[in-house]
Amino acid sequence: PSVENTHPHTDCGSTIFVVHNGIIENHAYLADALKREGHWFSSETDTEVLAHLIERVITAKQGSIVLEDAVAEALRHVQGSYGIAVVAKSEPGKIVVSRRGSPLLLGIGDREFFAASDTAALVRHTRRIVYLDDNELGILMPSGYEVRNLRKKPVTKSVELFTGSLQDVEKGGFDHFMAKEIFESPDVIRNALRGRVLYRDGSVKLGALDSASNEFAGIQRIVIVSCGTSYYAGLAGKYMLEELTGIPSEVVYASEFRYASFPLMKHALVIAVSQSGETADTLEAVREAKRKGALTLGIVNVVGSSIAREAGRGIYNYAGPEISVASTKAFISQLTIFVLIALWLGRQRHLSLEAGQEILRELQQLPNKAARILSQSPSVAVIAEKYAANNNFLFLGRMYNWPTALEGALKLKEISYVHAEGLAAGEIKHGPIALITEHFPSIVIAPNDSVYKKMISTIREIKARQGTVIAIAAEGNKEIQKIADETFLIPQTIPLLSPILAVIPLQLFAYHTARVRGCDIDKPRNLAKSVTVE
Ligand code: M6R
Repeated sequence: PSVENTHPHTDCGSTIFVVHNGIIENHAYLADALKREGHWFSSETDTEVLAHLIERVITAKQGSIVLEDAVAEALRHVQGSYGIAVVAKSEPGKIVVSRRGSPLLLGIGDREFFAASDTAALVRHTRRIVYLDDNELGILMPSGYEVRNLRKKPVTKSVELFTGSLQDVEKGGFDHFMAKEIFESPDVIRNALRGRVLYRDGSVKLGALDSASNEFAGIQRIVIVSCGTSYYAGLAGKYMLEELTGIPSEVVYASEFRYASFPLMKHALVIAVSQSGETADTLEAVREAKRKGALTLGIVNVVGSSIAREAGRGIYNYAGPEISVASTKAFISQLTIFVLIALWLGRQRHLSLEAGQEILRELQQLPNKAARILSQSPSVAVIAEKYAANNNFLFLGRMYNWPTALEGALKLKEISYVHAEGLAAGEIKHGPIALITEHFPSIVIAPNDSVYKKMISTIREIKARQGTVIAIAAEGNKEIQKIADETFLIPQTIPLLSPILAVIPLQLFAYHTARVRGCDIDKPRNLAKSVTVE
């Protein structure tokens, strides 16, 4: 972020101004050509080429072309996605808008007209909305508006009346941001994968790693620093990294890392994970890691945030804004990004092409599998209602799903104020089993993986002590259904990816429990969305 890179962007003579949502994929090629023709660029953005392209058309026609035609002509050269609004000094009182791939709507007011990329921005001004389609262009003037296609042909659009409330718009029809965000999981996974999968190579494209591939290929140790939910994502990330790369990896609470005399040998990579990018402890941990000479990499959702900037190299989640205090979609996205990093590093080492391709195939099926789980939210609600009066829960998992258990417990604690403990299932007999009674239910995560048999033993141990078991198992599993009190089935996937699916019913369980208990779901007491103090 800088003033130069801030919209609107303009042409050489500052006569045309453009705001843009999207990405012009061939901007480098276009900018080179325009620079050769003598155009001067003043920002580092892809958007600026649009202003210069429009300027080029107007100059070629010696000004005898109206702005909408110049915009249409310029857009013929553009690849990528855009929702744009353009004004020109030569035609005051006119805004030209167009879209391809990015949303764009017109608001029809009382002798006033608006353009926006989201209904939420318009509702305060007008409820009469025209939704533009790809390759359409709108002309807004004080006297009226017009929509046409890029070949100048008028298009008749219907004006739709938006009847929902502002809150409905912002929450997308859900009662709470948390529910909306959980239901965004399929898209969040797609966004994390978009443009990054290199199936033929069994690998992925990650700009941050590709641009320093020698440094990344040579790392010998990985330390993950983060807090809360992001810490649990890091814990699963550690398992993924060790399985696919063989590089010794560990995860450390950022609040511990920043103060402990944590030795970082040469060729260490420190990965900082943060949804907000503003968590004070994680930010300081990055600074400390840099001071100790480590290579740093951020996994951050909020673009341009402090951790994203401090880490230098980073991978954005592109999960969209997470409003609810309880982190849900960010966790799913962080896990997906860890798979990508592990794949990239693994393919630099011993991971075979076939193994890489298998993971990519499975990854690409995850959005639909996540959607299948979400469609069963009402079944989770029934289970949650049945157990909502309980004041204690254990969450148990092993290996990849130990972090899932920890995260499930954290979600329940923070939004429903129910005491919950997440445990590595093997630890239960070293103490916690003493807590088990029929009023102290255990949520056991037991997908089909290498520790499945061990999880069955855990379930039997709990049942032998009259404990209640709510199990998360893989579709087709009959064994668990016979012994557990409740079973929620999730689609099968490879063990490495199982936490991405297994956490969804736990997020839903916490949500429905909090609902039944009448809690303030999106703003739980005593909590803030980003913890910017120690
Ligand atoms: O923004 P960050 O990912 O750095 O935040 C870390 C934690 O504060 C955060 O995950 C917190 O634990 C959430 N409330 C969990 O839902």
